[in-house]
Amino acid sequence: MPNAYQSMSTESLDEEIKHLETEVAHLRDQHLKLDMARGKPSPQQTALSKPMLDVLDSSTPLVDGDAIVDNYGTPEGLPSARRLAGQILGVDPKNVVVSGSSSLNLMHDLVAHAFINGVAGAEPFYRQGEVKWLCPAPGYDRHFKVTESMGIKNVPIPMCEDGPDMDTVCELVEGDPTVKGIWCVPKYANPTGITYSDEVVRAFASLKPAAPDFRIYWDNAYVVHCFGGTDDQLLDIFQAVREAGNRNLVYEFGSTAKVTFPSSGIAFVAASDDDISEVRKAFSVERVSSEKMSQLAHALYLRDLDGVRAHMRKHAAIVAPRFALVQSKLGEGLGSLGVATWSNPHGGYFVSFEGPKGSAKRIVALMADLGVKLTPAGATWPYGKDPNDSNIRIAPTYPSLEDLGQALDVFVVAVKLVSAKIAREERG
Ligand SMILES: Cc1ncc(COP(=O)(O)O)c(C=O)c1O
Repeated sequence: MPNAYQSMSTESLDEEIKHLETEVAHLRDQHLKLDMARGKPSPQQTALSKPMLDVLDSSTPLVDGDAIVDNYGTPEGLPSARRLAGQILGVDPKNVVVSGSSSLNLMHDLVAHAFINGVAGAEPFYRQGEVKWLCPAPGYDRHFKVTESMGIKNVPIPMCEDGPDMDTVCELVEGDPTVKGIWCVPKYANPTGITYSDEVVRAFASLKPAAPDFRIYWDNAYVVHCFGGTDDQLLDIFQAVREAGNRNLVYEFGSTAKVTFPSSGIAFVAASDDDISEVRKAFSVERVSSEKMSQLAHALYLRDLDGVRAHMRKHAAIVAPRFALVQSKLGEGLGSLGVATWSNPHGGYFVSFEGPKGSAKRIVALMADLGVKLTPAGATWPYGKDPNDSNIRIAPTYPSLEDLGQALDVFVVAVKLVSAKIAREERG
């Protein structure tokens, strides 16, 4: 169906473009400096966790059950931190390793382990010739960079309303032994905000990979990050794997980067008995043991899943109005034009925006010109190549509500102008 600009007479369209260019000139004169680029919590959100800094002092007993906190040891993480991580991911703590402060770092470590040492007795990737990785797109740019940086070939997979296109995933995983992994953000995905349906989770769990060293990288980064209304329900992947008669198929990741402090949270990985034992062995080469003071502080402060959920409700009270503002500004500004669609997630950190074909780079460039920074166009695709040049990731959490409102007003004008110009160019 033609959009509003495509339906206009050429004369009206030229008028509209002139009018929008005047609006753009006014906005340029405002010398704005706004940032909607990265998925970072706002200062109000990180302030929520400041009391965690008070739970440790020089009188705190530096033991955790049998584990010593102020010395080497317990490389798998403190028992209380593993219990907490197990509750967040819904897995047995014995299948969890808590290590470091960044889940992306753990993902990188495990791809590097596969690359250098090999997984489950298979040849290391570096000796296997071409190795491929499936990348549901739009997806998380930093995932794609991990595999790209090791020379692994990233293969885009279409994203549907309920998760990656599983027909394509099955065909490639089961038919091609050079396919070694897939990046997944199964709940409140970055950037689409969707949660994988039960059918999609079961299809993942039933995969019969052609490569014995294939693993699903199940990055459950937003597992507790609901906005406070309906919380999407994600099927337990490990349970589904067991029901499908599979065993060693999934590494699940999580962190408290967006629960407490980005870069100073705790990060964790869960896997089957065999896989977690291999993970522990691989990590033992890299470090003696991990940051246990931070683990202790997290366990004392958050305590358990109820504690995490109570804390996340405070985050929700801050972020929900921002996401509501995105919906109202885009709805009011663009809803009747038919030039774009955008996601309306129940949680997570992003809204995924689809403009006309060939518009994303132009919109992002125009926004930069008007003083509003967005995630680079194409970033949500492997190698930065969005085939339609249409996807833009909106990250509304960091700016204040006022700044966000202003940034969205500019965005609406930029989308209108670029869409109108594209409609005009289509006529020659
Ligand atoms: C899907 C996803 N995974 C991982 C991360 C990074 O987490 P961490 O700080 O624990 O490395 C992000 C951050 O934006 C993310 O969106």
